[in-house]
Amino acid sequence: MRSEQSENSNSKNGPCLDDDQAMLSPMKARDFRTNQPETPRRHWVRGDPFASAFFNALSAVFPAGEAFMIRSIKPWHKNTPPQLSADIRQFVEQEAGHSREHDVMNDSLTAAGYDIEPLQQVIRNFVGCFENSSAQTRLCATMCIEHLTAIVAAEVMDKDHHLQDSDYGLRELWLWHAVEEIEHKSVAFDAWQYAVRDWSGPRRYAVRTAFLTLITISFLINRTRGQMELLRQDGFGFWKSLTGLIRSGFGKGGIGRNSIRPWLSFFRPGFHPWNIDDRHLIEKGETRLAQMKAGRAQAEPSLPNAAKIRGLLKPPDKGSGGNQLRVIGQ
Ligand SMILES: [Fe+2]
Ligand SMILES: [Fe+2]
Repeated sequence: MRSEQSENSNSKNGPCLDDDQAMLSPMKARDFRTNQPETPRRHWVRGDPFASAFFNALSAVFPAGEAFMIRSIKPWHKNTPPQLSADIRQFVEQEAGHSREHDVMNDSLTAAGYDIEPLQQVIRNFVGCFENSSAQTRLCATMCIEHLTAIVAAEVMDKDHHLQDSDYGLRELWLWHAVEEIEHKSVAFDAWQYAVRDWSGPRRYAVRTAFLTLITISFLINRTRGQMELLRQDGFGFWKSLTGLIRSGFGKGGIGRNSIRPWLSFFRPGFHPWNIDDRHLIEKGETRLAQMKAGRAQAEPSLPNAAKIRGLLKPPDKGSGGNQLRVIGQ
């Protein structure tokens, strides 16, 4: 494990990976194509509007967010040591795949009746703030976003209940994305550490922790706004949306609540993403994906509650102003 001393030392050779980290298996961009749901549903996670809103709001902003990260990290592959350069190329390939497949998911959200343009405008504004920033600043922002995505991916992969009884094809998409987020979680961190290798340790620590704080505040505000916009389109009122989201995200077993501790680990001096050794989750995800691929045809009809949930919910009529989801047949 890296120690406080590692951040306080000035490595001229770039990121300091310890022996365990150096033994990580090489990354690979997996060939994956999303199976768009036959009948796109708004609440594809257990029919739960709040759990679904979390994943839907993230998906809406992924393509623009990931394109920003690709633009931010790609130039560094020419200026970094060979292994890091190879990792950056894999990172770019993986993120490009995520953008492509989340575009497919976003099409299904649109087909289900959502207008996701307001959410996409917010992410365009956010990345627009960095367009005139230095290459190091954009890389720092990428590093911090990657910490958030890595801890959420690990939580989703670790606790099966988050995607329990969800649409089969979309569950595959999120598991695949989570596997690759965990796999490449240190690339932007290592690239930034290399980019600022001439800085003092305390300066690196101060900048990365300040950035993570700002990026997290922005993430919490903007993704909450995004979820509330989707819930508004479902017909939920402001307070019902807000309290539902807080309960869903920060109640017992919530993704936000379970992510607090790994989020805080970034503030440890000498932190490196692989200090949290969750390589077993990559293996778990790959095994689960292989099982799902093999059993897709037979498994979907027998998923618990799938028949009950599928097609039951549909969006309220525009202009109805009602707060209730309409249930077909009622
Ligand atoms: Fe991604
Ligand atoms: Fe990523």
